[in-house]
Amino acid sequence: MTDLVACDIEDRIAWVRFNRPEKRNAMSPRLNRRMLEVLEEIEFRDDFGVLVLAGEGSAWSAGMDLQEYFRETEALGLEGVRKSQREAYAWWKRLRWYQKPTIAMVNGWCFGGGYGPLFACDLAIAAEEAKFGLSEINWGILPGGGATKVAVELLSFRDAMYHTLTGEMIDGRKAAEWRLVNEAVPLARLRDRVVEICRVLLEKNPVALKAAKDAVRRVKEMTFDNAEDYLIRAQEAANFFDNEGRKEGIRQFIDDKSYKPGLSAYDRSKQKAKG
Ligand code: COA
Repeated sequence: MTDLVACDIEDRIAWVRFNRPEKRNAMSPRLNRRMLEVLEEIEFRDDFGVLVLAGEGSAWSAGMDLQEYFRETEALGLEGVRKSQREAYAWWKRLRWYQKPTIAMVNGWCFGGGYGPLFACDLAIAAEEAKFGLSEINWGILPGGGATKVAVELLSFRDAMYHTLTGEMIDGRKAAEWRLVNEAVPLARLRDRVVEICRVLLEKNPVALKAAKDAVRRVKEMTFDNAEDYLIRAQEAANFFDNEGRKEGIRQFIDDKSYKPGLSAYDRSKQKAKG
């Protein structure tokens, strides 16, 4: 049996790929189970600092598998349906709060349920040629599995409504214009662009990255005062894991004058042992 999820770690980047190209990387219960296993297996390894989620073949993911995720689990009744939903949602949630920053590298088709992992990734870079769609309306359901929520979170109200009701596809360029993804580049340049962004992230303090990515997701739902309070606590908690990093960052700027934080990251290789 081929592995439904491929994973390679190379130059401190974990390349995790939907690996069911013959089915356009549709998410079956087996794929969902395997994805959670892979994400959990590697999460705390220290030989990588960024995870990229990509797709093998012409698709990123054609969404939920209509045969194996819908038809076959529905045949098992409520228990089967709920079990397969939980398996899918579990890995998306794990990815939303992943220890390392994550990038969706959308190389091709991205439909329906694919919006769950798309949103779960911290950043998303698409090929201009990629195609996105909430196709559910085309086969007679509402975009579930969080997909409607993703549309409303990321798009304007009008675009979210149009996208949901018409089922019309948009390409990578439009997805970038609508802010469904950060940017779109020609497919031929996609991997290089993603590696460039990974390199930027790999220079940063990993404790600060984790605290910052969680903070962006959390504060979105908070009042200003709650957010201010949360951020004080989050910053203090981060010091528990890395109290020296930020002191070193201040030292290299104020004392050494070796870099400017407005322009780049401090040199972490010069940091003394953790205190
Ligand atoms: N569920 C189950 N099977 C799927 C699938 C899905 N979401 N998406 C693709 N497949 C299967 C096809 O049934 C086909 O299987 P077969 O070779 O055994 O016949 C195979 O993958 C290739 O798909 P095909 O449609 O021939 O590829 P394509 O490149 O011409 O078109 C899509 C790609 C993505 C446009 C098309 O497959 C599609 O519309 N898929 C459904 C998308 C969708 O609505 N997803 C939302 C689910 S929530």
